[in-house]
Amino acid sequence: MPLRRSKALVKWIYENQHKMQTLRRCSSTLRYKELEESSVPSLEPVAEVAPAHEPATKPRPQLTPDISFKFDDLQVTLAAPYQLQKKPEAIDLGFGKYFTDHMMKINYHRELGGWQKPEISPFEHLSLHPAAKALHYAVQLFEGLKAYRGVDDKIRLFRPDLNMQRMNLAAQRSGLPMFDGEELIKCITRLVQIDQEWVPHSETSTLYIRPTLIGTEPTFGIIEPESALLFVILSPVSAYYKTNSDGAVSIYADPNVVRAFPGGVGNRKVGSNYGPTIEITSRAAKLGHQQVLWLFGPNHELTEVGAMNIFVVYINEDGDKQLSTPPLNGLILPGVTRRSILELAGEWKELTVKEEVLTMQRIADLNQQGRLLEMFGAGTAVVVTPISNVGYLDTNIPVPTMQQHNPVYQRLKDTLLAIQYGHIEHPFAKVIT
Ligand SMILES: Cc1ncc(COP(=O)(O)O)c(C=O)c1O
Repeated sequence: MPLRRSKALVKWIYENQHKMQTLRRCSSTLRYKELEESSVPSLEPVAEVAPAHEPATKPRPQLTPDISFKFDDLQVTLAAPYQLQKKPEAIDLGFGKYFTDHMMKINYHRELGGWQKPEISPFEHLSLHPAAKALHYAVQLFEGLKAYRGVDDKIRLFRPDLNMQRMNLAAQRSGLPMFDGEELIKCITRLVQIDQEWVPHSETSTLYIRPTLIGTEPTFGIIEPESALLFVILSPVSAYYKTNSDGAVSIYADPNVVRAFPGGVGNRKVGSNYGPTIEITSRAAKLGHQQVLWLFGPNHELTEVGAMNIFVVYINEDGDKQLSTPPLNGLILPGVTRRSILELAGEWKELTVKEEVLTMQRIADLNQQGRLLEMFGAGTAVVVTPISNVGYLDTNIPVPTMQQHNPVYQRLKDTLLAIQYGHIEHPFAKVIT
């Protein structure tokens, strides 16, 4: 090979290292020649790139999926006796430390027509491509609901339809495939029935259900994933976090840190809302507080507390006792417990119930005037948790929640637990066994 040609070839190899695999496989003289020729810039006119067109119409929000997986297609593989785990003692449960013997998986592959058959199988690790979109761009969402073993030994879910609606809204926002919530409830019901002995025989612990939907397509483009995985795992749980000896928590508000912002995803249960809260939660803990109070805007509006919706009880300008929570303005997760509290308390004659903007100034003023009675957080994991102190701008605002006679928080907690554990029959509870 003349020197000039071989130099050109070396140059080509240098510039086309990424194609070396091909080169190695086809290292005949003929192939070298072919490659050399193809490295010469083509004089052919480059086809004109079609101009990008504006979409003719705005995409319409699609709130019901066209196609969903079906419970009728569910395939079940039960764990072999040697795969069954020892059940932990109730006292050791903690929150999300132990998992049951089975899990559910439903794959989505666009090229195979979308949702595949749901499968219940022995609990196992997932195998994911390292480029899966969930791992890089948090193309991911989750839900949290519980199965309660009632006083009648029947197992109940609490308003699971609301979790399904919320899950579909988060899927829509994240470009993940939507599905028929009723079908997922039926599949979850079957999973809980199979692992029913894992639902604690206790009124202080429950079986936490964690449906999760992740984008699994292994490409770096920030676009709708062509493949996804919906999985459901179950964990027997007790208290979500420790309270003070009186059962209340102290919360910490730093107005410089926000959880959500207008137009963002504060109202969707996506993983990317939670990771960035860890540092401030640890800072709050070092200062002696159990949770973070999330404020927003120049007026330091209250939005949520930790992973709970926030409620305040006070004497209003008319002298009436009022239960208030901030309105769903896009920054706040539409909690199932929040909605249930508003609906239940809305029927109590002696209480005014309102969704209203609450600022830190308003809380401080109410407290100073002796009109602030209670503050509490509410959510599936914690039910209702009273708040006894707010750390804010180098001061502490003591909240007299624990000093009230017949506090509202306790009545709400008792009512919710009575529904969940079957002490009273209520349409919010769905018996599944
Ligand atoms: C940020 C946030 N707010 C509120 C809640 C309470 O919602 P739910 O009552 O549906 O559990 C949760 C828990 O899911 C949450 O993560």
